Amino acid sequence: MSGDSGNPALLSNADATKPNKNQPFVPRITELRMLNLGYIRSSACRFSHFITSHSSSSPSSCFGFSPKQTITSALRSQMGSFSTLSRSSSRLLFRQLFENESFTYTYLLADISHPDKPALLIDPVDRAVDRDLNLVRELGLKLIYAMNTHVHADHITGTGLIKRKVPGVKSVISKASGSKADVFVEHGDKISFGNLFLEVRATPGHTVGCVTYVTGDGPDQPQPRMAFTGDALLVRGCGRTDFQGGSSEQLYKSVHSHIFTLPKETLVYPGHDYKGFTVTTVGEEMLYNPRLTKDEVFFLEQLIFENLNLPYPDMIDVALPANKVCGLQD
Ligand SMILES: [Fe+2]
Repeated sequence: MSGDSGNPALLSNADATKPNKNQPFVPRITELRMLNLGYIRSSACRFSHFITSHSSSSPSSCFGFSPKQTITSALRSQMGSFSTLSRSSSRLLFRQLFENESFTYTYLLADISHPDKPALLIDPVDRAVDRDLNLVRELGLKLIYAMNTHVHADHITGTGLIKRKVPGVKSVISKASGSKADVFVEHGDKISFGNLFLEVRATPGHTVGCVTYVTGDGPDQPQPRMAFTGDALLVRGCGRTDFQGGSSEQLYKSVHSHIFTLPKETLVYPGHDYKGFTVTTVGEEMLYNPRLTKDEVFFLEQLIFENLNLPYPDMIDVALPANKVCGLQD
């Protein structure tokens, strides 16, 4: 559902900027445009480098093993320590992956202390499914869930493709999203993978069915906690609220009630970023988020004004119907 689909002023701006590899990179106007103040020129290569710098590609000869199986085991045990999270529990394997056409982050989490190494993917993108599944294979993980924070309007989810390629994987989305999935979650639900779990927090506003997944609270869960906020809260920004049942008022309440109430050191991993940021914290956003630090009245006025100037999202007419059915259409 799109609240602004009939606005010709927004439609006319839809293709204002397109990435060109031969020119300085200007962030592409897509679903979010992040409602951020000003533009920051960046390079897509920076994102690519971030991803590859964490994917262990050292030649096997460096390890001095000959039997292939021994090499694989040695690699896997070493890769377990390559985490982008500096103070995570040793049982959590965590990877932040980037899809550089839609500027989407996909997150891989696994309990590597469990014999099965159960894993889940949050917000996979269809174009990057092979990369993600290859990584899961290389790390010796067993993918059990492919989850979405919400029905995306700027890219097609990879959950349907993943289910097709890896039988047994279950797709997960909120019940309020109205989308098709194997598992529907609601506020307060827990999603377990091995001895770790994610808590579901309903954070509507960007869309009616947005949820934030937060790592568990407890001595045996990763510390600090990690919140996967989708588009409800971005690094110094937030998702737009002018379509898909969005509501600025609801977004403000969601963030203040269900994200800003987490411990300040909680790591916030957004659904997108166009400036090169990868992570923030609850405390940091409570201090420096240019919108959500304002009082509610100011926030609502600001978002109403900014929503008026946003273009119609490039992929919304393709992405929404596809994402309602796990990214796969008959
Ligand atoms: Fe979104």
